[in-house]
Amino acid sequence: MTDKLVKTKIKKEKEVENPEEEILFTSLRSKSWVEFYGQKQIKESLRITIEAAKKRKEAIEHILLYGPPGLGKTTLSYLIAKGMGSNIRVTSGPAIERAGDLASILTNLEKGDILFIDEIHRLNKVVEETLYPAMEEYALDMILGKGPSARTLRLELAPFTIIGATTRIGLLSAPLRDRFGVVHRLSFYNPKDLEGIVASAAKKLNVPIDEESIKEIAKRARGTPRIALKLLKRTRDFAQVEGKGKITKEITKEALDMLEVDILGLDGVDRRFIKAIIEKHSGGPVGIETIAASISEDIGTIEEVIEPFLLQIGFLKRTNRGRVVTKIAYDHFGKKFKEDKKQQKLL
Ligand SMILES: Nc1ncnc2c1ncn2[C@@H]1O[C@H](COP(=O)(O)OP(=O)(O)OP(=O)(O)O)[C@@H](O)[C@H]1O
Ligand SMILES: [Mg+2]
Repeated sequence: MTDKLVKTKIKKEKEVENPEEEILFTSLRSKSWVEFYGQKQIKESLRITIEAAKKRKEAIEHILLYGPPGLGKTTLSYLIAKGMGSNIRVTSGPAIERAGDLASILTNLEKGDILFIDEIHRLNKVVEETLYPAMEEYALDMILGKGPSARTLRLELAPFTIIGATTRIGLLSAPLRDRFGVVHRLSFYNPKDLEGIVASAAKKLNVPIDEESIKEIAKRARGTPRIALKLLKRTRDFAQVEGKGKITKEITKEALDMLEVDILGLDGVDRRFIKAIIEKHSGGPVGIETIAASISEDIGTIEEVIEPFLLQIGFLKRTNRGRVVTKIAYDHFGKKFKEDKKQQKLL
């Protein structure tokens, strides 16, 4: 399977199930900072970065946003562009195949424009190296011709800003990471912020919903706005088919149970992952390759989509000998936890 396909599969499995859903998410995208809930420190810090750049009448510094899928990286990028009053061009790492592609994008940017590069960890080496001087000196060094007659041509660029987004900061090369003046890590949302997101989306969708349902959906959203919106949409469908259109406590519970999302927001894939470690590997430590093989899931999906939330809620620990499932995970799944001295030492 090519890398491109793997990525598509990652998105499909946990996040976007169909194009219609993607359109819905786009329509629900926060149009202003007020509609962007949570991530207070990042918002505040970006506000200062934006104001300072505006005062100096300069392009804003290059910004790198990273964190698990669905936490708002793309949304934030649009808000930054709006805050600066700048045009934003959107592309992605794998879409820029050759240095020439990058050159044509960059030479078309005007002063102060923003280039948003999604999945920036997937830029190829040649393109990445072309990007270095572009980011540092607003210049492109193009090599013309081949062999002894080859010469370099330096193209001056208008001052612009790159906003890079990635779910895999670990895969970004150090030289590229260092060229971003501002780096922010988005973290999972707390239930209060997710409640705000659900309530405001329900209003936009014109669907009546009670307070308890808002709370329940927020609680089961795995700390992720995109999942909260997905659950809201499913409960809305359920309310329209099985109920009278209003999202009530009963409807919400039934819909979420049908989706097999448990009280902590864990779904079938999370359960399969944890149970495999418990049942097939006595709770660990076990290497990621081994788990991947035993649940037929690719390593990228595990590291990028499944693990971050499980680590966050303390169900899983990463040790230098592999992954270990904790007692609270055993308790949650009603499994008997056997005290293992060697294992405990690792935690
Ligand atoms: N803080 C927030 N407040 C309100 N809505 C949000 C917030 N963060 C994200 N959303 C909503 O969640 C959805 C997903 O957000 P977004 O596409 O920006 O995530 P992402 O981090 O770019 O995800 P990916 O890594 O998959 O590209 C969007 O519909 C967006 O409007
Ligand atoms: Mg995105």
